Amino acid sequence: MDNIISSSNGGRRATIGVLCVDADYRRNGVASDLVDRCERIVSATWGENAVYAEVEAGNGKTLSFFQTAGFVKLQDCDKVVTVRRRNKVEAIPHLLLSKTLDASKYPVMNTTATSQVLR
Ligand SMILES: CC(C)(COP(=O)(O)OP(=O)(O)OC[C@H]1O[C@@H](n2cnc3c(N)ncnc32)[C@H](O)[C@@H]1OP(=O)(O)O)[C@@H](O)C(=O)NCCC(=O)NCCS
Repeated sequence: MDNIISSSNGGRRATIGVLCVDADYRRNGVASDLVDRCERIVSATWGENAVYAEVEAGNGKTLSFFQTAGFVKLQDCDKVVTVRRRNKVEAIPHLLLSKTLDASKYPVMNTTATSQVLR
C-alpha cells in the first residue's frame, strides 16, 4: 500500500493508492486489516475525518472490497492515473472512493514514528 498522504498539509487527502494482497492469502481479512490500520492512523494520529481510495474503474473485485469496507463512490471525481506495468506506461481511469471516519472508534495512538514514515 502506498500513496498515503495527509490532507492536513496543503489541502491533500489521505488516499490509499495501491492495495494488493498475495493471491495465496486473499479472502482471509488481510486487506480489511490493512485498511483498518490506515483508518486508525488517519483518524487518531492525523485527526482527519475521512479516508479516500483510488481504484481502477474496471476493477470490479477491488471496488466490491472497498464498498464492503464502507467506502462509497464520489460522483464526478473520476481521474486518470498514469500506471507503469511491465515497462509499459498507461493512462487508466480511476474512481475516487471515500469513507467517513468515526473518531470515537479510534482511540488516540502513540504512532508518531509510523505517521512520519507514512508521510
Ligand atoms: C482486493 C484485494 C486487496 C482484497 O484483499 P483480501 O485480503 O482478499 O480482502 P479481505 O479478505 O479483507 O476481504 C474482505 C471482504 O471484501 C470483499 N471482497 C474481497 N475480495 C473480493 C472479491 N474478489 N470479490 C468480491 N468481494 C470481495 C468480501 O466481502 C470480503 O469478505 P468475505 O471474504 O468474508 O466474503 C485483493 O483481492 C487484491 O490484492 N486484488 C488484486 C490487486 C488489486 O487489483 N488491487 C487494487 C489496486 S488499488
